Amino acid sequence: MPQVTVGVSLKTYFGHERARTFFTDVAQRAAAHPAVVSGDVRLFIIPTYLQIPAALDAFAGTPVLVGAQDVSQFGPGAYTGEVTAAELAEVGVAVAEIGHAERRRLFDETDTVAAAKAAAALTHGIAPVLCVGEASRVDPVDAATATVAQLAADLTGAPAGPVIVAYEPVWAIGTGRTATAAQADEAQAFIRARIGAKDAGVAERLPILYGGSVKAANAAELFAMPNVDGALVGGASIVVEEFASICRYRDHVTAGS
Ligand code: PGA
Repeated sequence: MPQVTVGVSLKTYFGHERARTFFTDVAQRAAAHPAVVSGDVRLFIIPTYLQIPAALDAFAGTPVLVGAQDVSQFGPGAYTGEVTAAELAEVGVAVAEIGHAERRRLFDETDTVAAAKAAAALTHGIAPVLCVGEASRVDPVDAATATVAQLAADLTGAPAGPVIVAYEPVWAIGTGRTATAAQADEAQAFIRARIGAKDAGVAERLPILYGGSVKAANAAELFAMPNVDGALVGGASIVVEEFASICRYRDHVTAGS
């Protein structure tokens, strides 16, 4: 597993031209970033569906992966407005966010739908980034208990395959209220332990990212935690320098030590 995985969801922050500029900038920085080149830091960028081909072009020949913010639970057919896992895989999409809190809240996405999407993604070789987390601020163990149940529901019936977990307390997304590094670590240790009770190997290899108001100011502290394998970043990534700074987390660790 890489030391740290940093995923970026651009949500719908950018129009097409701004997204292109962002991809070019990130591709240049990634090519010059020793930790990205060595695989120590793994990056994935998740733009809108319409921006995916431009992202794939910009990141061709770099180690940066391109993802989708969603995927259809259905296969090809009469499903107006959907984008299938088969098509995403065909163009080279590597990961797909599934069950993000905004989709659950605004689009009534249920665990059953998330499970169907996870199965579709895995069937086509796309790694689901399963977004799970508690709705309100509670004790880390209670939070993790609810999260583990959600995770199990979201993987019901899915074939085996590489999965990335994004532990994202709903109350922390886009609010500026981040779980402390200790809270995130405690919750994520619990998630890993519960998965490890079923399959130690899977738990060991499973990247568990923290998401929810991650920014340069808190990334180093989060990444120093043994059970935080990286971050899923939203709002902070709009400013490319802030995003680059998150990826230079080791510099901050060194500077702060
Ligand atoms: P945020 O979003 O960084 O803006 O809180 C995170 C996410 O939605 O994954």
